[in-house]
Amino acid sequence: MNRAVCPGSFDPITFGHLDIIARASTHFDQVVVSVLENRTKASMFTVAERIAMIEETTKKFSNVVVTSWHGLLVDFCKANDITTIVKGLRAVTDFDYELQMAQVNLQATGVETMFMATAPAHSFLSSSLVKELAHYGGDVSTMVPPAVHAALKLRAEGK
Ligand code: PNS
Repeated sequence: MNRAVCPGSFDPITFGHLDIIARASTHFDQVVVSVLENRTKASMFTVAERIAMIEETTKKFSNVVVTSWHGLLVDFCKANDITTIVKGLRAVTDFDYELQMAQVNLQATGVETMFMATAPAHSFLSSSLVKELAHYGGDVSTMVPPAVHAALKLRAEGK
C-alpha cells in the first residue's frame, strides 16, 4: 500500500491543513495524519482534542486516518511502513526550515518529503495566527472548520 503521512502539530487544524490532506489523499492509497510534538511551540489544545477535531473534519475522506506519535517523525514512518512525508509550503519563509527537516529525515532514514504548494487562498494562514485572532475575539470562521471554530470560542472563554 502506498501510504503517506501528513505530520504537524495541528494546534488546531485549519483549512490550509485540510486542503493539503484532501489533495494528498488523491495521490496515495492512504494518508495518515499524525499529530506530533513541536518542541518550539506551546499548545492550546491537548493531543486528544486535536485528534478529535481532525477526525471530525476529515471523516469525509475514506482513505484518511488520524493518529499521534511521541518522538521522531522518521521513527513514526518506520513503525508504520510509510516512505513519504507530505508537507504544505505556504511561502518562501517556510522553505529554509522545511528543507532542513526534509534533508535530515532523508539522510537519517531515506524517507522522502514531498512538498505541495498551498492554495493561494490559504497562503497567509497558520494555526498561530488563528489562535491569536481567536484569543482577541477576531472572526476566524473562514479559516477553520466549524468544529474547530466552536472549540476556539470555548477556549477563548476559558472553557
Ligand atoms: O505543524 P508544525 O508545528 O510545523 O509541525 C512540525 C512537526 C511536528 C512536523 C515537527 O516538529 C516534527 O517532525 N516533530 C517531531 C520530532 C522530529 O522528528 N523532529 C526532527 C525534525 S528534523
